[in-house]
Amino acid sequence: MAFGFNLGFTRVPTRAVGLDIGTSAVKAVEIRRRGRTMHLVAVGTAPTPKGAIKDGVILDPEAVAGAIRAALDGGRIRHKEVFAAVAGQGIVVRNVILPRMPREELAEVIKWEAERYVPYSLDEAAFDFDIVREVAATGGTGGARERDMEVLIVACPRALVESHVTALSAAGVRPKVLDVQPLVLHRALGMRRRSPAGTGPDRLVAYVDIGAGTTDIAFYRGEHLRFTRIIGTGGRNLTEAISSALAISIEEAEKVKLARGRLNAGLPVQASNTSEVDPVERAMIPVVKGLAAEIRRSIEYFSSEIRSIDRGANVDEDTGRPEIILTGGSAGLPGLPAFIEAETGFVTALGNPLENLVSDWHGAATITGHTSASPIEIAPSLSVAVGLGLRGLDVA
Ligand SMILES: Nc1ncnc2c1ncn2[C@@H]1O[C@H](COP(=O)(O)OP(=O)(O)OP(=O)(O)O)[C@@H](O)[C@H]1O
Ligand SMILES: [Mg+2]
Repeated sequence: MAFGFNLGFTRVPTRAVGLDIGTSAVKAVEIRRRGRTMHLVAVGTAPTPKGAIKDGVILDPEAVAGAIRAALDGGRIRHKEVFAAVAGQGIVVRNVILPRMPREELAEVIKWEAERYVPYSLDEAAFDFDIVREVAATGGTGGARERDMEVLIVACPRALVESHVTALSAAGVRPKVLDVQPLVLHRALGMRRRSPAGTGPDRLVAYVDIGAGTTDIAFYRGEHLRFTRIIGTGGRNLTEAISSALAISIEEAEKVKLARGRLNAGLPVQASNTSEVDPVERAMIPVVKGLAAEIRRSIEYFSSEIRSIDRGANVDEDTGRPEIILTGGSAGLPGLPAFIEAETGFVTALGNPLENLVSDWHGAATITGHTSASPIEIAPSLSVAVGLGLRGLDVA
């Protein structure tokens, strides 16, 4: 919030509802500001009807509206204004270096710039951008153009935005802001967080949200988002692998995964002793290994890109080794953080979006068929909703 004396003429929001419309579940939270502390006052969840959301697009707005209502009613959340986000592989986030120019001019230039990265027609895209920082000019001999600026461009298909607006209004709520999912993770998980890797304010952090349908990576350097990537693998792939290995239905496999799924990282699976490995774990290993390899490749690519951009901009900061903060419902799989750490070689910790909140919530929420009376049990699933709620309260 900008500096100013509050004389009672402006209303500082004291409560906000964050709504995460996921492929497997809708998660709603209400957060209230009380003095200097943030309080989690309500949590509501409801399963998303199967097939109603595909690659971020809400295909069945009526069905999703029903799930949104069920989540809000379940949490007894009556506030009509919500903060929600779009997700999916159609979202493009890019940092580009451009010469310094006025904001109005920039809005035009961004469109031309975006054309290089957006794989659909620009007429079908919604845009936003933000100036990240000023950097030294990359080309020329200085002179008139000594400084460039780094600009974050976000584009997503208009249909994605429209499908969300339709579902939200059918549910009787108004979206105050439609954010972009990977961008809210830092808000929920980054505040005042001490780094296990012990690096400075410019440390490199990959927030990795493993949901049901996708894994979203948001790569930050300090406070700035630098890259995002959405991988089409999530908890559903683990369930499918268990279902086919054990020859059981998807519903059964989901129950088995939640009841006894675990990974024993650090115990290499030898060909000779695979028979001793639990069949559920054995079924999941190739999926998590593949996912870990994708995460590692993305982080290595992002880190080397950042190094080369910084060299061009004459910035030479010691950022240390990147670390991974895991979240999303699938991050609750016992042993997953250690497994990802062993496979990627990057320090990996489980993020807790409730760390910076006081919990005043005393209800129960059911998520993936499991009823939890304690918010901490479902914390990994709440990161996006909490990040959106905090955005609503304008906590930077
Ligand atoms: N304890 C657990 N162990 C393993 N998997 C779990 C556990 N708890 C939840 N999951 C899995 O987490 C997934 C749901 O997580 P989440 O609510 O973050 O997904 P989503 O937001 O609906 O999906 P997406 O972000 O892909 O749209 C499901 O696949 C579920 O099986
Ligand atoms: Mg999700």
